[in-house]
Amino acid sequence: MTAAPAVELRGLQVQVDGRRLLGPLDLRVEAGEKVALIGPSGAGKTTLLRLLAGLRWPSAGEARVLGALVGQLHGRALRDWRRRIGFLHQQDNLVPQLRVAHNVLIGRLGAWSLPKALWSMLRPQELDRAAAALADVELQPRLWSLPGELSGGEQQRVAIARLLVQEPELVLADEPASALDQRLAGDVVDRLVRFASTRRTLLVSLHALPLLDRGFDRVIALRDGRVVHDGPPSSLDRGVLGALYGASLDWLGEPIGSEGGGAP
Ligand SMILES: Nc1ncnc2c1ncn2[C@@H]1O[C@H](COP(=O)(O)OP(=O)(O)O)[C@@H](O)[C@H]1O
Ligand SMILES: [Mg+2]
Repeated sequence: MTAAPAVELRGLQVQVDGRRLLGPLDLRVEAGEKVALIGPSGAGKTTLLRLLAGLRWPSAGEARVLGALVGQLHGRALRDWRRRIGFLHQQDNLVPQLRVAHNVLIGRLGAWSLPKALWSMLRPQELDRAAAALADVELQPRLWSLPGELSGGEQQRVAIARLLVQEPELVLADEPASALDQRLAGDVVDRLVRFASTRRTLLVSLHALPLLDRGFDRVIALRDGRVVHDGPPSSLDRGVLGALYGASLDWLGEPIGSEGGGAP
């Protein structure tokens, strides 16, 4: 028996006011796959990731994520399902009034009872867990800092520490590195890929093509809400990228598969 896929979309569409933002999409992502999602601004990357996180429902067709149909879970089952999915945003990931320790422990909230969660605001629960996660992202000394005292790259690492303590099966990240310079962006994507390792499924939307070279198994390109390319990173060439990004290609850095050096 083959394992159930992490994500399975069938005839999926998302519409707002009669306008189709996404689909129809048929897509299967196996458990453990590392997928980069690319495409020009407005292609539907955020809409797709939010749908997979259950923050948006299908207008037609179906989306099965970790075995459940998006939009059909309620109550306890919905909360249990959400705990298994981690979401990393582009920025503004942290609660500015909360110290780093508390921000990291937000990743545990889904696993805690309400009294334990409230008590943790006074006396942080499972502090050793938060400290270990921060050590993993090399930020242990910042346990009691406020987010505003950290750089953008450090804040993104705190958000990754929060994912570490949540231990989600499916990690969704929406342009998690687009507010960072190239070196820090590479670091954040490396950490996500490493965290996902073999057991977890990862879908990351990316703004910069050089970041595809960070251990992804598969690249899915969206345009106008449809999949226009799906294959390993090595399958992307100038033809695909030109069709995808057109004139904006120059903004994206040196594409994969381009022949370095030499005259044009
Ligand atoms: N809540 C919404 N209401 C109406 N249109 C939306 C909404 N969210 C996104 N869109 C539109 O859907 C399309 C896809 O957007 P988005 O998923 O944000 O693309 P991407 O993340 O690839 O830039 C865009 O045309 C955008 O303007
Ligand atoms: Mg987006």
